[in-house]
Amino acid sequence: MLKPLDEIQAQALKALEAAEDEEQLLAWRQTFLSRSAELSQIVTAIPDLEPEERPQVGRRANEVKTRLESELARQRAALQAQALDKKLRQEALDVTLPGRPVVRGRLHPSTQNLRMILDIWREMGFQVYTSREVETEDHNFELLNMPAHHPARDMWDTFYLTTPGVLLRTHTSPGQIRIMRERTPDPIRVVLPGMCYRYEQITTRSEVQFNQIEGLAVGKHITMADLKGTLNGFARHMFGDGVKTRFRASHFPFTEPSGEVDIECFVCMGEGCSVCKHTGWLEILGCGMVHPTVLLNGGYDPEIYSGFAFGMGPERIKMLMHRLDDIRVFWANDMRFLEQF
Ligand code: PHE
Repeated sequence: MLKPLDEIQAQALKALEAAEDEEQLLAWRQTFLSRSAELSQIVTAIPDLEPEERPQVGRRANEVKTRLESELARQRAALQAQALDKKLRQEALDVTLPGRPVVRGRLHPSTQNLRMILDIWREMGFQVYTSREVETEDHNFELLNMPAHHPARDMWDTFYLTTPGVLLRTHTSPGQIRIMRERTPDPIRVVLPGMCYRYEQITTRSEVQFNQIEGLAVGKHITMADLKGTLNGFARHMFGDGVKTRFRASHFPFTEPSGEVDIECFVCMGEGCSVCKHTGWLEILGCGMVHPTVLLNGGYDPEIYSGFAFGMGPERIKMLMHRLDDIRVFWANDMRFLEQF
């Protein structure tokens, strides 16, 4: 009876090695360890053996059973480890592969420029105020001391809307009236950035649309010295401490006196070059003391209040700083230009 037990064990171990998955392991157990297995039948038949044979056969049968059970557990664990290994290998990520590039968007150069200039004004204590792009003729002209047929209106060729008296603002100055009427009688220190429109021939120097930044300060003791000091301060922040400025007399109907500010050409340092058209100077803005009529139209008594105003073209300034020779690049949507900023 011991010999068949050894054979069963040898046979079972061989079959177990061949098992490849859980299903085959279960079939193997059915064959070698279930009630109907040969081993069980031998155990069942022990009582029929000669009494002296029984303990020996019983012990051996037990050993075989224990061995088969532990081998089954070992093989099961080995198969599970193999399966896990295979899965990990199949799902492995090749971290050495280059990633897909993420294309990042960015702000339009003119927006970057606008924000940079507004940061300077903010630091100098000016609030940012946004006025409307669609304006009334009154705000754009009349209330700024330019009655109908005033010759100065020729400076601003205008896009009129079909509604009479409504237009696209030709400059940010109408915002002066709006902010004054909103704030009166409080002191004012604001900048008003935004798009302006002019019905003009498009050239390398002029576009039908462009940004302006208007500035306005109104109070009880504001003088021409404040205007000059403030604009000089701005020029130093914008172009560097050593920048030289020049105030030139000019004319605007809504300021008196009026002026224009030039900075020394930073390309040739005043020597004269093609950027400054051999003058040594670059114009950066128009300015002046707010005209008494405009103060009055804004609700401020010109006997008590005074103020200064200025208007600059940020695209023009950006062009000077980057030596761009064509203003049309700003709205042409040419990626080769946009991606340089
Ligand atoms: N509005 C003027 C322009 O468009 C600029 C300006 C603003 C001048 C404020 C004086 C004061 O040219």
